[in-house]
Amino acid sequence: MTGKKAYISTLGTYLPKKILTNQDLEKLVDTSDEWILLRTGMKERHIADEGEYTSDMGAKAAKIALERAKLDPSDVDLIIVATLSPDYTFPSTACLIQAQIGAKNAAAFDIQAACTGMIYALSIGKSFILSGMYKNILIVASEKLSSITDYKDRNTCILFGDGAAACLIRGEGPGLEIGTISLGADGGQSGLLYLPGGGCRNPATTETVNERMHYLKMDGKEVFRHAVRRMELAAVSCINDAKLDPLDIAYLVPHQANTRIIDAIAKRCQIPQERVVNVVKHYGNTSASSIGLALEQISVEHKIKNKDNLLLVAFGAGLTWGSLILTVEGDFKNGTSS
Ligand code: ACO
Repeated sequence: MTGKKAYISTLGTYLPKKILTNQDLEKLVDTSDEWILLRTGMKERHIADEGEYTSDMGAKAAKIALERAKLDPSDVDLIIVATLSPDYTFPSTACLIQAQIGAKNAAAFDIQAACTGMIYALSIGKSFILSGMYKNILIVASEKLSSITDYKDRNTCILFGDGAAACLIRGEGPGLEIGTISLGADGGQSGLLYLPGGGCRNPATTETVNERMHYLKMDGKEVFRHAVRRMELAAVSCINDAKLDPLDIAYLVPHQANTRIIDAIAKRCQIPQERVVNVVKHYGNTSASSIGLALEQISVEHKIKNKDNLLLVAFGAGLTWGSLILTVEGDFKNGTSS
C-alpha cells in the first residue's frame, strides 16, 4: 500500500571523467591553488565533455539507482529533475532522461530551485507518494555548470563542477525515510546570483553574448552571508519540528558550496566536525547534485547505521533554501537499502 511514509530506496551518481584542478585554473585566471583551497576548500572538480550534457549525466545516475533497486524502467511512474543547467529551455530535461532510460510509462517534469533543487524535489516526491498517486518516483539532480561558467571570471569559475545524482523514492522501506521538511525563498534577493541572458528578458543576441550575459553572475560575499544565515535557520527549524536535538543528528549533509560555509553552519547548529559530510575538495560546487553526491559518499563508506538521522540542508539562487531529515530504516550501504 502506498501510504503514510516515503523512503529513498536507492541512490545513483555520475561524475564525468575529466578533472579541472586548481593548477589548471591558475592558467586561465589570476588565481592560485593556495587562495582557492583557503577560501573554498576546493582542490579539483569534474567537468563534462563538450558532447556530454545534463540529461546524459542524469540518465547515467538514474540507471544506477534503478539497477540497484532491480526496478524495470517501465515501472517508474514519475521523473522529477532538479537542474539550473538544463539541455534546453524546453523540452524539460526530465523528458530527455525519460527517453534515454526507457521509462516509457513515467510522467516527467523539471523544477528550478537552483542548489536547493534536490531538497525541493524530494519534498514534491514525498507528497506524491503520500497522496497515493505514484509508487516509484525518480528524483534526478544533474548539472553541467561548466556550460554557464565564465572561465574569465575568477570570482566564480573556481567554484563550480559538473555531475549528477539520482534517487528512487517509494512508499515502503527499508531505506531513508523522508521526514520533516522546511523550505523557503526570498525572490527579493534574486539579483545576487543569476544568469542574465537567454531568457525572455534578454533573449540571446550578438550583444548579449558579447557582454557575456550567458554566464552566471554572483555577488559572492552577499551570497555567502545569506547562505550561512538561511541554512542555519532552515536546519534549526527542521530539527525543532522533528523534536530532535543536535545530538540526535548522526550526519549533517549540507549543500557543498564552500568549506567555510559548511563549517559555519555546522558550528551554528552545534554539530561536531566528525559528523559533517564535506566532499567539496574533490567535486567543487555541483549545485542541485551536491547533496546526492555527498549522500552517496557516506553510503559507500558504510557510515550510515539503522535509525541514524541525517540532516540535509541547502541554499541557492532565488534565493531558495531548505532542510530535510532522513531517518535510516534498515541498512543503507553502497546507495542501496536492505
Ligand atoms: N583568486 C584570487 N583572488 C580572488 C579570487 C580568486 N579566484 N576571487 C576573488 N579574489 C580576490 C577579490 O578580487 C578580492 O580582492 P580585493 O580584496 O583586492 O578586492 C579578494 O580576493 C577577496 O575577495 P572576496 O570576494 O572578499 O573573497 P571571499 O573570501 O568572499 O571568497 C568566494 C570569495 C569564495 C566566492 C566566497 O565569497 C563564497 O564562497 N561565496 C559564496 C559562493 C557560493 O557559495 N555560491 C553558490 C551558492 S548557491 C549555489 O550553489 C549556486
